[in-house]
Amino acid sequence: MTIQVKYKLIGSLNISGDKSISHRSVIMGAMSIGQTKIFNLLESKDIFSTINILRNLGVKIRKVGEEWIVNGVGTSGFKQPHKVLDAGNSGTTSRLMLGAVATNPICATFTGDKSLCSRPMSRVTDLLEDIGAKVELTKNNYLPLSIEGTQNSLPKKHVINKPSAQIKSCIMLAALNINGQTSIIENQATRDHTEILFKYLKIKFKKNKYKDGKIKLVINGPVEIAAKKIFVASDPSSAAFFIVGALIIPGSNIKIKNVCLNKTRIAYIKILKRMGGNISVKKIGTLSGESIGNVSVKYSRLKSIEIHRKLAPYLIDEYPILAIAASRANGITKMRGLGELRFKESDRLQSINENLLSCNINSLIIKDDLIIEGSNEMLVGNNKVNTYHDHRIAMAFSILSLICERPLKINSQKCINISYPKFNQDLKSLLRNV
Ligand code: S3P
Repeated sequence: MTIQVKYKLIGSLNISGDKSISHRSVIMGAMSIGQTKIFNLLESKDIFSTINILRNLGVKIRKVGEEWIVNGVGTSGFKQPHKVLDAGNSGTTSRLMLGAVATNPICATFTGDKSLCSRPMSRVTDLLEDIGAKVELTKNNYLPLSIEGTQNSLPKKHVINKPSAQIKSCIMLAALNINGQTSIIENQATRDHTEILFKYLKIKFKKNKYKDGKIKLVINGPVEIAAKKIFVASDPSSAAFFIVGALIIPGSNIKIKNVCLNKTRIAYIKILKRMGGNISVKKIGTLSGESIGNVSVKYSRLKSIEIHRKLAPYLIDEYPILAIAASRANGITKMRGLGELRFKESDRLQSINENLLSCNINSLIIKDDLIIEGSNEMLVGNNKVNTYHDHRIAMAFSILSLICERPLKINSQKCINISYPKFNQDLKSLLRNV
């Protein structure tokens, strides 16, 4: 049975600024000397968490017209906060800001919402304790935590065994205010927006890539950063929802413009192409060091594939929507090595699997692998989807809902505001009746 959908996705779209680059832009703006003007900053809950924390640390941040203006205080100018620093739902806010604060002589308490308070923090605080910060965690691993930073932080060599851009960036930000050489060894490369912004802001550092995939970063501090305008490229992880939507909804044909084409972020496009997706990517330039381009997508019959565990760090935020693509592909898709998904805004391995099953799609977790049986049958729909207040689960299943005879019953969709408040508005702008 071929599917009879009510809608297709047609047209072109400019989506909001990238979440990772937006966090880094405001943080690095705050750590610069002078005024940083930021364009296309993502205005989502997670970014407001970063902005609020910076304001509580004495940084003046305001919006004038379309620009965000950050009055930098330098790498050692954070003030003693008088409030608890609330990172809300944002892992990136908490982990990057801990690194920025650790080398300032202030005491701060960090907290977050229920989800963030159940996500591991010792992965960053262990490194910060190594350089001299004093940290008290809840149950040795969680928020709320208190940190006492020191101006006399130690230059050290850090080996990061977990592939995580948040861990790397935490220590990179700390290094900016450490007297001497900080080196960071990553066993596997992770998203490199911090390095790209360092380069754009003319911060000197060395980066070596080794044949075995390891990366070595060397930063000599302290560093003074001169403020510079920052333009934020559009978020490829947000684009992924519409790209998969267009691939799985018959008759669709869309173009997403000015998307960040950073190689550590668009591995999912390669995967979708391997699945038979008709996607073309055209590079059009660079924005503050990040390459950008247009992505055109047409409906395609997808086939199943096996995704190697080595690719997990480059697909980490796209597994929920890749799982939706897999559910529409011919055959059985195997996604390997998804262990880190358990520590995201929800236990995403579990939330993807449970919700696929609830939609009558065969799915199975074997250790850290997710196995999904795809089909081209029309879905009846009307099934319950539990987002667990996880924005990417909510958006991924909103896309699946479009090919159901009756819409899915997705609970608490407010969480979409975490990363993409304009998601429903943008989706509507592409929807056409068949
Ligand atoms: C991010 C890194 C990733 C990603 C998150 C944003 C960042 O986390 O999942 O949404 O901005 O550095 P990890 O690097 O911890 O996997």
